[in-house]
Amino acid sequence: MIESHNIDKPAYWDSRYRSDEADWDMGTPTPAFEDLLDSKKLEPGTALVLGCGKGYDALLFAQRGFDVTAIDFSSEAIVHARVLAEQNGVKINFVQEDLFDYSLDVMDEFNYVIEYVTYCAIDPARRAEFASMAASVLKPGGQLVGLFFPLDNHSGGPPFAVSMDEVHRLFGRKLELVSVEAPPRSVTPRKGRELMTIWKKK
Ligand SMILES: C[S@@+](CC[C@H](N)C(=O)[O-])C[C@H]1O[C@@H](n2cnc3c(N)ncnc32)[C@H](O)[C@@H]1O
Repeated sequence: MIESHNIDKPAYWDSRYRSDEADWDMGTPTPAFEDLLDSKKLEPGTALVLGCGKGYDALLFAQRGFDVTAIDFSSEAIVHARVLAEQNGVKINFVQEDLFDYSLDVMDEFNYVIEYVTYCAIDPARRAEFASMAASVLKPGGQLVGLFFPLDNHSGGPPFAVSMDEVHRLFGRKLELVSVEAPPRSVTPRKGRELMTIWKKK
């Protein structure tokens, strides 16, 4: 059973990982990121993976030549992600910390920020702060790669419903939209409910 419902605290997420209630966890890298990397649209560089969970996408980007820093405040997630990277012989800089705190130390540092299923996992009241944080850690000209899910209007969460109007409003404050498209290879329950976006720091 999940011990508490305080999504701002690592204990909530640790508890979900421990009790096998991490129902977002696909156990594989995200197909839409694989396709994006196959398209060679992104030149490898430094990348920050936000709320990296068990580390599948962090591993994917690292295997494709990116210098990856992956952050998550859940020790359960980070332990798994570290083992996964070691098993694959890949070097990733894992940070076990609250991403809102960490971002203050790494302003203008990354070529890329990678977001998937973390924006919908935080308290919706902190979304403007999240968007501002994602922009602030990018170098000028750096890019946010955000796969936004779930694009519906259910109540409750996490995951909390995401609206693209809100995404455009919040991320558009400091970032310029480069592209938005429906990924051809969404996993079945997410099909039609997510969009791949790329944004550039102004
Ligand atoms: C729904 S999971 C998604 C994990 C991963 N992105 C994936 O697709 O499997 C959200 C993750 O964000 C982490 N997280 C939530 N709020 C956070 C915060 N403020 N700082 C760092 N990590 C956070 C949680 O521990 C959890 O691993």
